Amino acid sequence: MTQPITLALSKGRIFDETLPLLAAAGITVTEDPEKSRKLILSTDQPDVRVVLVRATDVPTYVQYGGADLGVAGKDSLIEHGGQGLFRPLDLKIAKCRVSVAVRAGFDYAGAVTQGSRLKVATKYTSIARDFFASKGVHVDMIKLYGSMELAPLTGLADAIVDLVSTGNTLKANKLIEVEQIMDISSHLVVNQAALKLKQGPLKRIIDAFASAIPKV
Ligand code: PRP
Repeated sequence: MTQPITLALSKGRIFDETLPLLAAAGITVTEDPEKSRKLILSTDQPDVRVVLVRATDVPTYVQYGGADLGVAGKDSLIEHGGQGLFRPLDLKIAKCRVSVAVRAGFDYAGAVTQGSRLKVATKYTSIARDFFASKGVHVDMIKLYGSMELAPLTGLADAIVDLVSTGNTLKANKLIEVEQIMDISSHLVVNQAALKLKQGPLKRIIDAFASAIPKV
């Protein structure tokens, strides 16, 4: 009997852009996450299933063995810390960047050069803290879990640190991207114990994913 494999994915771009990689491994997800509320999806391989978790929870599921492997954004991996994870591949999917944005009219450059304290709202507190520390900027960090764009518009914060992909969300909320902190893509992460116990099937998936990584 082959050993069952559980793959953790998050809905949206990571799920959609992982499907071609799964196809390269001969795996098709047979249920559509947009059409049901199911959190465990079956595949055409009886021993492979997909669990749907929040993007920020993928590293945690894989770390503690709730999933054998997963696809996680570099942003989520940095915030998690990466403990207990083997990280064999940058899949070069779900690309975006982490940036600083402010409301139009806010003098960000002036605030930075004058050494003012900045109120920064973000879900990405580790990334933001390291970035502003490296610039020598003092910040009051406000942890949010979503809709970061609202923070500068309501006066909750001077700046946000958030993911930017097309830039449409910032534009729609009249925010200006003033600094790019880092490029983001999604990585394959594997539970270290599972890598030993389920070496054969996991290696086949890792090798197939490696062969199907987008070239650009
Ligand atoms: C991300 C991010 C922005 C948006 C940027 O949110 O937080 O809100 O995408 O994309 P754009 O530049 O193409 O407009 P996401 O949809 O991943 O959901 P989240 O709010 O749960 O993080």
